[in-house]
Amino acid sequence: MEKNRINTSEIQEFETEHIRQVRRLASECMVLLKNDGTLPLKNVGKIALYGNGARKTIKGGTGSGDVNVRHFVNVEEGLENAGFEITTKNWLLAYDQIMDQTKREYFAELRRQADAVGANPLMFAMGRTAPEPEYELPLVGEGDTAVYVLARISGEGSDRMAAPGDIQMTETEIRDILQLSRQYPHFILVLNTGGMVDLKPVESVGTILQMGQLGTPSGDVLADVLCGKAYPSGKLTMTWAPIEAYPSTKWFGDPDDTKYTEGIYVGYRYFDSVGYASAFPFGYGIGYTDFKMDVKGMSADAKTIVITVAVKNIGKAAGKEVVQVYYSAPQGNIDKPYQELAAYAKTKELNPGESETLEISFSTNVMTSYDTEHAAYIMEKGIYYIRVGNCSRNTHIAGAISLDETAVICKVKNICGQAGFKDTSISFLPISYEDEEQEKKSANVEKISAVELEKRKITYSGKPVEIPAEPPCSWEEVSSGKKSLDEFIGGLTEEQMACVCIGDYKETDNLLEVIGNASATVAGGAGETTGHLKELELPSLIMADGPAGIRISPEYKIIDGVVKGSASAGGDMLLVYTSEELQAMSAMAEVSQAEKDSEMYYHYCVAIPIGTCIAQSWNDEIAKECGHIVGEEMERFDIQIWLAPALNIHRSPLCGRNFEYFSEDPVISGRMAAAITKGVKTHEGRETAIKHFACNNQETNRFFSNSLVNERAMREVYLKGFEICVKNAPVKYIMTSYNLINGEHACSSRDLLTAVLRDEWGFDGVVMTDWLVTGGMGAKGKKWPCASAAGNIKAGNDLTMPGMLTDKADILDALHNKSHPYALDRVELQVCTKRILKAILKSVK
Ligand code: BGC
Repeated sequence: MEKNRINTSEIQEFETEHIRQVRRLASECMVLLKNDGTLPLKNVGKIALYGNGARKTIKGGTGSGDVNVRHFVNVEEGLENAGFEITTKNWLLAYDQIMDQTKREYFAELRRQADAVGANPLMFAMGRTAPEPEYELPLVGEGDTAVYVLARISGEGSDRMAAPGDIQMTETEIRDILQLSRQYPHFILVLNTGGMVDLKPVESVGTILQMGQLGTPSGDVLADVLCGKAYPSGKLTMTWAPIEAYPSTKWFGDPDDTKYTEGIYVGYRYFDSVGYASAFPFGYGIGYTDFKMDVKGMSADAKTIVITVAVKNIGKAAGKEVVQVYYSAPQGNIDKPYQELAAYAKTKELNPGESETLEISFSTNVMTSYDTEHAAYIMEKGIYYIRVGNCSRNTHIAGAISLDETAVICKVKNICGQAGFKDTSISFLPISYEDEEQEKKSANVEKISAVELEKRKITYSGKPVEIPAEPPCSWEEVSSGKKSLDEFIGGLTEEQMACVCIGDYKETDNLLEVIGNASATVAGGAGETTGHLKELELPSLIMADGPAGIRISPEYKIIDGVVKGSASAGGDMLLVYTSEELQAMSAMAEVSQAEKDSEMYYHYCVAIPIGTCIAQSWNDEIAKECGHIVGEEMERFDIQIWLAPALNIHRSPLCGRNFEYFSEDPVISGRMAAAITKGVKTHEGRETAIKHFACNNQETNRFFSNSLVNERAMREVYLKGFEICVKNAPVKYIMTSYNLINGEHACSSRDLLTAVLRDEWGFDGVVMTDWLVTGGMGAKGKKWPCASAAGNIKAGNDLTMPGMLTDKADILDALHNKSHPYALDRVELQVCTKRILKAILKSVK
């Protein structure tokens, strides 16, 4: 451990190297939405830089997904590093002053509101951002090129708003962007956002680049792309359309019950099926060059479908292209979307005139639909068209499969109760294109017989056998192989087992110390497994947040063997306090002589691009590299479990945490999460905890929000990404979500955590809760109750985090009180205890 302590504030070699790596890969995460020939810029000279993201660039969102970096490069600095002369310093300064004033007023008002309802001001302000002000500043920067950086931030605890300054642009932004695009011979609108903004009012702008939020080197990456040192090759992973067009908008944000009435028709599954023309569809993105795709052939049998596609760079610059493969399943007893993504692949860098032939394959039996009536994944008989293209609005038929009979691929059982409504049926008026009918007629059809398709059989687990009582033994005897885990568990008391099944609890009134900051071993780490069995010398597993890098305290001291980090809650939210209050608080914080005398240590980490941007690369290798960077830092700072990647579905652009998530599509989400996990796992003993399982698609009232979702949508859309990741990575930890699903907390759902996760998918790792789901926030005035630690054990959610004394008491009560709503048998506690101990045994040698 000592070997890793850094006692100088100087930048370390590994940071420089990681920043260099992120800078190299991040241009692949940017999506060029429009280009009238302005990009790449022809020369580096004077540049007029405007917009709220020019100086106050966003490197990633707020909350546990934020990374406490040493420094990050904003757009202004990035352009200057590249040799540009910024001619709008006065504008940038004036904007800063206006924004600072707006923030002060906004947070003072939030404080008044918090006081009025007796809420903790910081918790009240969590995730909130000050509105974009309206202002009038002269647009007089010199030069013939202007860049306007439009930024949006969001984070956990609050959702985005369908209002000017967030999803919409303010009047000032629209006016200035349109004015600048007329005024300067060359104009670029840069979107420094973690998700969609409604671009309708500025659609006349000729060049729009979705820069995204790219972590530590953000501004340098933008400069590289503007100058043509690098090129953007990303594609959208969510359809961008006006907010009213998404079917999820209607019920979004209900604090108690959010109805997923659109069922499986999420994102392009909806837009393509109803023929809605979006200017920026799923999978869309251009580059600095053009490509031609030629399908060379398709082979299909009952096991695998293989498509061979030749991609040629027919433009004048180097670039990379993404080949996207979709399927259209036949309409039968079950309605189907127009098309669904099955696979994708990205070319290597192709120079002008260069070609590459890609072979893309996927299992034939992934083209199932979920038949709720018969509780089975089925493939209905009929014709399946396989489509190939470079965006969901530009696909062509590459071949077809004819299935003779309907096949049951996997019989399961229905799970997670009832949503209480039927999904809204859509008017199926799919997109089409001129030659589609002709393509269908001339498609080569491969015949597949239902009997040959690979089937899966599921056996649901029964009641486990209790581990018999044994005399106590030490952990050392287990780790040295002298005793088995069962012998160790047989010797544990109920109280000891309950301690294993909750995190390393720290009783404190300050919730900010435990949300994302509860580790006693690594300063600023989110938490760790129990440290309460000191007598048994049980080591703990240390966890730190993600997903945009590692979130720990950059500076810390060790006082009498205990770590103490620099405060991690901060930023604009602190403006809820007056400067007098802040001074009084820091005066109250006692600094002992031992603390004063202790040496300061440093663990600065590097921020990687946000989840959405990583996915926009459509390149699993990029995702793996990001995981690799994180894994290296985990090793350096002794962190075993990274609480990331996060792979909830982009159900609505309004979700405040979408930036952490990958896509509206489960295939790309699952593949990205698996690739990142593989990158992390290249470092021995380092693991991910994928989150938030499942249906965590809004932040409003997030601890008590009930997602009402029907089974088909759950299985085909919301669980599928997790399934892909669990089966391919493989994953050792999974974090359940705060929300309820059809009236039951996800962490207390045995259907979800045992029937689906373990029995159907074969997961054999540890499930942990999200932080404080069992009551840290209290349920006063809420429709739904807090989750119960005993309920978690019963469901197969092994570990309740961050761990509180009340959780231990709840588990012990449930063991003896038959009227406890989740009355437990000893064996149920043994099962969860064993999974956690097994993980500790494997990770900490
Ligand atoms: C977030 C999680 C995070 C955890 C620990 C929660 O508030 O929802 O994503 O991992 O805190 O910091």
